[in-house]
Amino acid sequence: MPKIINGKEISAQIKEELKEKVAEMKKAGISVCLAVIQVGDDPASSVYVGNKKKACAYIGITSLSYELPEETTQEELLALIGELNKRKDVNGILVQLPVPEHISEDAVIRAIAPEKDVDGFHPQSVGALCIGQQGFVSCTPAGIIQLLKRSGIEIAGKECVIIGRSNIVGKPMALLLLRENGTVTVTHSRTKDLKEVTKRADILVAAVGKPRMITREYVKEGAVVIDVGIHRNENNKLCGDVDYDDVAPVCSAITPVPGGVGPMTIAMLMNNCVESAALRQ
Ligand code: GUN
Repeated sequence: MPKIINGKEISAQIKEELKEKVAEMKKAGISVCLAVIQVGDDPASSVYVGNKKKACAYIGITSLSYELPEETTQEELLALIGELNKRKDVNGILVQLPVPEHISEDAVIRAIAPEKDVDGFHPQSVGALCIGQQGFVSCTPAGIIQLLKRSGIEIAGKECVIIGRSNIVGKPMALLLLRENGTVTVTHSRTKDLKEVTKRADILVAAVGKPRMITREYVKEGAVVIDVGIHRNENNKLCGDVDYDDVAPVCSAITPVPGGVGPMTIAMLMNNCVESAALRQ
């Protein structure tokens, strides 16, 4: 049976390391503060925002919470971001997505000062990642790199195949694996003969958004399989993009859902906040 890559354990380890670092920074007079903005009251967003604030409290990061009504105008939201950009005590600004339809997501992302863009969504952050310069990296793909490294999985020289080309996961994942000297292929809905391509992968990252689509027919024997998906199956149980029971017996390592990639996203957000505060000094 494969090695189960335990994201819950690895994220807990990262949070412990950050907690120690924040305590040391406090002694040196440096505090860490994240501003979290939610517009409207989408229940899923409320859960995510709550978990982010809880993680901040655990690590010793101050969180400022802005719960704005659904009717908030884009102008009002951009004005708040502008104020937070100017505040010296705020190290990170996070606007929970999606925002209501009357607000441009792109305008919001661009309004956040790149040095406070702890989500790593600003075009300047993405551009910096692309050309190997300093900048914040999108949390989910950054978390996947940590999962691989901390599980002793070598990336250099490996065939890495990503299924999905989103701005938040697929594209930054490709750039990060490339930075680690992987040989990278990005596949998507228009890829011809997808199985043929994914079967080449030593490291396969599934970020398709379709429950249990990836069966063993897509996987080479002995591959490392990373599952970014999170869905509820017909019995209301959580499942990923990968058909875990079918794939696990043929791969060498796999992330479970839940408890794989999911917990890493918040850990890396916390890491970006701490880094932002440290860089300001
Ligand atoms: N909505 C879903 N995932 C994310 C995320 O990583 N960051 C933000 N800001 N919103 C999200």
